[in-house]
This record gives sequence, C-alpha cells and structure tokens, in this order.
Amino acid sequence: MAEKITVSIIKADVGGWPGHALVHPELKVIARNELEKAKGKDIIDYYVSNCGDDLELIMTHRKGADNEDIHRLAWDTFIAATEKAKELKLYGAGQDLLSDAFSGNVKGMGPGVAELEFTERKAEPLVAFFMDKTEPGAFNLPIYKMFADPFNTIGLVIDPSATQGYTFEVWDIKEHKRVFMDCPEEMYALLALIGAKSRYVIKRVYPREGGKLPADEPVSAISTEKLYEIAGDYVGKDDPVALVRAQSGLPALGEVLEPFAFPHLVSGWMRGSHNGPIMPVAQSNAKCTRFDGPPRVVALGFQIANGRLVGPVDLFDDPGFDNARDLAKDVADYMRRHGPFEPHRLPLEDMEYTTMPKVLNKLKDRFQPVE
Ligand code: 13P
Ligand code: 13P
Ligand code: MG
Ligand code: MG
Repeated sequence: MAEKITVSIIKADVGGWPGHALVHPELKVIARNELEKAKGKDIIDYYVSNCGDDLELIMTHRKGADNEDIHRLAWDTFIAATEKAKELKLYGAGQDLLSDAFSGNVKGMGPGVAELEFTERKAEPLVAFFMDKTEPGAFNLPIYKMFADPFNTIGLVIDPSATQGYTFEVWDIKEHKRVFMDCPEEMYALLALIGAKSRYVIKRVYPREGGKLPADEPVSAISTEKLYEIAGDYVGKDDPVALVRAQSGLPALGEVLEPFAFPHLVSGWMRGSHNGPIMPVAQSNAKCTRFDGPPRVVALGFQIANGRLVGPVDLFDDPGFDNARDLAKDVADYMRRHGPFEPHRLPLEDMEYTTMPKVLNKLKDRFQPVE
C-alpha cells in the first residue's frame, strides 16, 4: 500500500508593502529560513510564495490534515515574519494573526488553510491556487466548472474514468453546517447553493465510488476561514487558497486552468467592499495596485514525487490567458465607473462585514418617521 502524503497550504497577511499591495521580500526570506529548518523533520518539502499581500506556505509531510506540528510551524513562521513586518513598519503588521497564543490548530486564529491527504499516484500533478482581494466563494465557479461542467471539462464526457462525476462538500458558512452533493445527478441543486457564493462555499471535492481514485481521499480543498467572524471587526478579506489534483481520472491540467479564461466577478477588491473581475496573472504580477486590485489569482503547478514538490511552474504566465486579462481590465474599468453605487459596491448585507455599519450608526438619530 503506497504511503499517504499531505499537502498543506497555510497562508496569512502579516503585513503589506506598501498598503495592501504586496508581501515584502524579507518576509519571504524569513519564511524560507523557518521552513528550511523543519525540512527533513516535520516536513518533507516546502515552497514559499505570495499573492498580493498574502504570504503563502506550501508544505508536504506525512502527518495528515489538521496536524498540530504543521500548524504550529506555520504559526511560528508567521510570528517570525510579523516581527520583521513590525520592524519595517509594514501596513497591518500581523493583520491575520488574531490570537496571541497558538492552541493546537491555526483554524479560527486568522490564517487560511487548504490541506489534502492522499495516496500518491504514479504521477501526481497538483495545482496550488492563491487569490488576493476576494473571499472563499470566489472559488465556487471555477471549481464547479472543473469538476462538473462538460463544456469546461471534456473528460467528463470522453474519459471513462471521469464520467461517474464527483461529490462536492459544500459548507453553509453562516449556519456552520455542511452537505455532500453528487454530480451530475444533483447539479441543479448544487448550483442553487453555490451560486450564492457569500454563504455557500465548496470546501472539498471527492471522487465517486467506481472511479479510478479512492472515494474517501479529497481531490480538491479550498480555504473557507472567515476573518470577520474571528476578528469581530473588519480587518481584511478572507483571501482564499485552493489545492487541485489533476489527470488520470481527474480533470486534466488544462481543464483545471480553463475556468480562469473567464475573469468572473467576485467580491472583495478595495476595502473588501466591491465586486470586480478576478484576473489570472503570473506570480510576478500578483500585486494589487489598481484600486487595491483588481482581485488576482495565481496558479503554481507541481508534480509530487514522494512528497517532494517538483516545480513550480507559473501556470498563468502564458499568453493563452492574455484575453482573460484584457477582459478583466475592461470589466474593471466598467465596474469602477459606478463609484460608490451597487452592484460595484457590495449589497448592504455584505457591507455588514466592513467599516460601513459605523458610518450608518452615526446617522441613526437623524432618521424621522415618515407620515
Ligand atoms: P490522463 O487520462 O492521463 O489524465 O490524460 C488525459 C490528458 O492528458 C488529456 O490532456
Ligand atoms: P487584504 O484583505 O488583502 O489585506 O486587503 C484589504 C483591503 O482593505 C484592500 O483595500
Ligand atoms: Mg492586507
Ligand atoms: Mg490579501
């Protein structure tokens, strides 16, 4: 029986440079040093990157998801990077570290987490996606397209090891409940939920019984941490990350990337309060400067070899995504012209999670009853 490997992405914004644009390179150096010390001990391999102002730690190990040693390593790394961020007076130093002391797991403490534990195949292609200036529901549309839409993934039609479809684990992030839905049979009901992306988010995707892969090992995982719920106040968006395995009974690499040829509208952008297009970019262009955006997505591709991260390949660093970027620029212009008006500005119920309620509170005594 082949050994199980776990891939963990744990990420946090521990200080922006300048404002909310980027991670300072010295923070990445600190993160690499910390993870290098753990290599060969707690972790097999690692890769440190960033998307905008979010510091992204990819780690491989044999300890499974939710492991205390791995979470502590990430937490301590963010603490070390925060020290440097404070010294450089970076913007919002320690922004996503919402607790003073580590208590066994980074969940509920601010950082975002996506982890996959699986039996490594003969060849194991994996894509790590990072988004900045948006929220976990921004992954609903692309993950749905990869694993359920035959107009995106031709493998669902012509690959006998994919035609049985996939199971989606969807979280209701308000009620803290989850539901498992099988596609293609429950596709319409699934869309009824995940189209409402600020409330229902895809957490994991599983193969189905009868396919090539074990049905109990997830093939995709998305971070769903909600900063507002943890902090009780607006501190930034819950910029999400995702892991997706590819090929041999799963969507091919190109089917995993294809949804991002459409820069769909997501919420986030300036002050976490606006709808705008998500722009697929090379890692070097993952800097959020235009109105603190527009929201970005980066895709790093690896082959996993006994836990070793063979890569990365910067997958959106490809002229094939130029049209998506051009469209995103035009949509950004179009949306920006609405200024403070909806639907560029988020609807009021989503503005509850920003500084807006404080403004409305100031006006509350001025309202008079209407005859
Ligand atoms: P696999 O079935 O090995 O994933 O091959 C499909 C493919 O690579 C099509 O692009
Ligand atoms: P981040 O969530 O990326 O820190 O951005 C917050 C913000 O307010 C951008 O304008
Ligand atoms: Mg920030
Ligand atoms: Mg961010």
